[in-house]
Amino acid sequence: YGPAQVLVASNRGPVSYEVRDDGSLHAKRGGGGLVSGLSAIGPDAGALWVCSALGDGDREAVRRGVGEAGVRMLDIPADVHADAYNGIANSVLWFVHHMLYQTPVEPVFDAEFRRQWASYEAYNRAFAEALAQEAAEGAAVLVQDYHLTLVPGMLRELRPDVRIGHFSHTPWAPPEYFRMLPDDVAGQVLRGMLGADRLGFLTHRWADAFTACCEAFAGGLGDTRVGVHGLGADADFLRKRSHEADVEERMVALRAEIGEGRKAIVRVDRTELSKNIVRGLLAYRQLLDDHPEWRKRVVHVAFAYPSRQDLTVYRDYTAEVRRVAEEINERYGTPGWTPVVLHVKDDFARSLAAYRLADVALVNPIRDGMNLVAKEVPLVSDEGCALVLSREAGAYEELHEDAIGVNPYDIGGTADALYEALTMRPGERAERTKRLAASATALPPAQWFLDQLNALREQPAA
Ligand code: G6P
Repeated sequence: YGPAQVLVASNRGPVSYEVRDDGSLHAKRGGGGLVSGLSAIGPDAGALWVCSALGDGDREAVRRGVGEAGVRMLDIPADVHADAYNGIANSVLWFVHHMLYQTPVEPVFDAEFRRQWASYEAYNRAFAEALAQEAAEGAAVLVQDYHLTLVPGMLRELRPDVRIGHFSHTPWAPPEYFRMLPDDVAGQVLRGMLGADRLGFLTHRWADAFTACCEAFAGGLGDTRVGVHGLGADADFLRKRSHEADVEERMVALRAEIGEGRKAIVRVDRTELSKNIVRGLLAYRQLLDDHPEWRKRVVHVAFAYPSRQDLTVYRDYTAEVRRVAEEINERYGTPGWTPVVLHVKDDFARSLAAYRLADVALVNPIRDGMNLVAKEVPLVSDEGCALVLSREAGAYEELHEDAIGVNPYDIGGTADALYEALTMRPGERAERTKRLAASATALPPAQWFLDQLNALREQPAA
């Protein structure tokens, strides 16, 4: 058996590679909640991170033997990966857990779905085999997210000696929605997960939904324990990073785009259907209608970064975000005032610049495992920032006392919340921001990871 005592497995790893025109490989930091949370572990923790090669650059890196210490990328055949990642994980499982289907016409579980499901099994098996090979006797293996639901069960068969944990970074669907999956597939997913000694979720709501699914469709949890670990933001990293020179530069540029003396309503998301960016724009438009005195005095800064662009629904959604933003600018804009500033090219330093100068942060997902943006903004805000937060985000469980809660479907209610946020007294805003920052850092990523590891090791073997 391999030497690693602690292993992490996830589809997306901490780095990805790009082939430059001169043939050289350029490394880039991965994005999304999972990678942000796990990156705090760092290579010094002695853990091995098994992840998937995601694009041509990653595959080339594997071929050339380029990589970071402590990271093993699996070169799973591109077509198998595409079926598993795009077809099953990001279409079926993501849509089920975020309840995104337009049910009169979808989902459709046909022959194409069955073919993709077979790829999902093969892809999970590739992870289970790599982990079985790399894990030392009695090692702890922490499997991440909906891409890898079958891994715990498969690994349990290959290596009965290892301790297996699984953590979900997404919501979990309630039984009435989960049962939409074909019975055999639903059973495979639940039994796959129940192969773990311990399962982790971001909030009680998602943990309870999972438990309810197991009770309804799998005869209960068996020997598997379920725990809640509410991943927090990384204060040390963010506070330091948000004061570096590139962020300061972007603050100057962004302030010029917004206009001196104007308030900024900021949002930062992957352009993801669950993030509800379009309704956010519509609520902002409603605000400009209801309170014309705010025209020219406020700008909606929306960063909507590309995500999962292989999928048509995501591309269509991106186009819709652009269309609605342009429509608002055409209808309300004046020569000196652009009501919506939309940026779609990923830029982490610019996101931090926006966090620092935001007067209002808008986080209005229709369903979200946690949402780290809601936790990051209060931490780095320069002068305090009012947080408008969807009650369907996992973060709401921890932040509801000092955020302004909204029903994400309610445009009028969201517009009212934006108005309340804009007009909040500076003293109150600063006080709330302080308390939000404290709640947001209650469980920093490194501790979040250690808690799970310790809980897994201390738990009696199943
Ligand atoms: C969510 C998921 C993560 C995923 C991230 C980014 O946070 O829970 O597993 O890595 O989105 O999505 P992507 O498809 O780009 O990895």
